[in-house]
Amino acid sequence: MSADTILEAQGLTMRFLGLVAVNQVSFALARGEILGLIGPNGAGKTTLISLISGTLLPVAGELLFEGRSINGLPPHARAHLGIGRTFQVMKPFPRLSVLENVTVGALFGFGGGEHNRSKAREQARALLDFTGLQHRVDQHADELGGPDRKRLELAKALAMKPKLLLLDEVMAGLTHAEIDEVVEIIKKIRDSGITILVIEHVMRAIRSLSDRIVVLHHGEMIAEGMPDAVLADPRVIEAYLGKRRA
Ligand SMILES: Nc1ncnc2c1ncn2[C@@H]1O[C@H](COP(=O)(O)OP(=O)(O)OP(=O)(O)O)[C@@H](O)[C@H]1O
Ligand SMILES: [Mg+2]
Repeated sequence: MSADTILEAQGLTMRFLGLVAVNQVSFALARGEILGLIGPNGAGKTTLISLISGTLLPVAGELLFEGRSINGLPPHARAHLGIGRTFQVMKPFPRLSVLENVTVGALFGFGGGEHNRSKAREQARALLDFTGLQHRVDQHADELGGPDRKRLELAKALAMKPKLLLLDEVMAGLTHAEIDEVVEIIKKIRDSGITILVIEHVMRAIRSLSDRIVVLHHGEMIAEGMPDAVLADPRVIEAYLGKRRA
């Protein structure tokens, strides 16, 4: 492992009953990098993120974060180390306000979180400005429309001050203009020093964001490399076309 590797996965495998959702996946993430994770529906992308954040435990394989094994650690311990994520199916606290939802993130993040409540609220407000939700701070989370829920999910994850941020389809259902906004936000997050693994079906966004792309298909890593080469790889094209024909 080189000095600037933040995360390394070796032979990660996850099974659900008979189904192998993630099969012997190995890759490394360099600090400061944006890695795109793509693949057809059901390829195992969300499962892989859940293995990294600790909401699922693998049946085999090893995960190293900053050189240390995190295999046995529960999700909150991984959050304390600096691993943050968003959820594809969003999980806000529905009856808390937008501001309170993000404040909770700040109270439970990196290093055990911010212990001072008013500081946590300040940080939450700043992140709501950053993600474009400043006009929604006092609404209940369950009153938000789809795009604003995605922004909330992003603000919550950022409030935990991650070193590594795992993004699961934060652009799904957004308009072209909204996608461009989120792409810019993600670039700014990386420029602030956060390493990012981004799952996305919007290829335009993946191409413009990713330093490197990993492709999953039926749980297997079928390609890895620079965006243009990976997206032109016949195996990758076949994986997507085959899925569309099915
Ligand atoms: N908790 C679970 N129990 C049983 N099977 C599961 C579970 N979670 C995922 N799966 C199965 O594992 C496979 C991979 O699912 P996963 O959600 O990781 O795919 P994905 O690549 O994120 O797909 P999508 O692009 O549709 O979000 C699928 O066949 C899915 O049905
Ligand atoms: Mg998914």
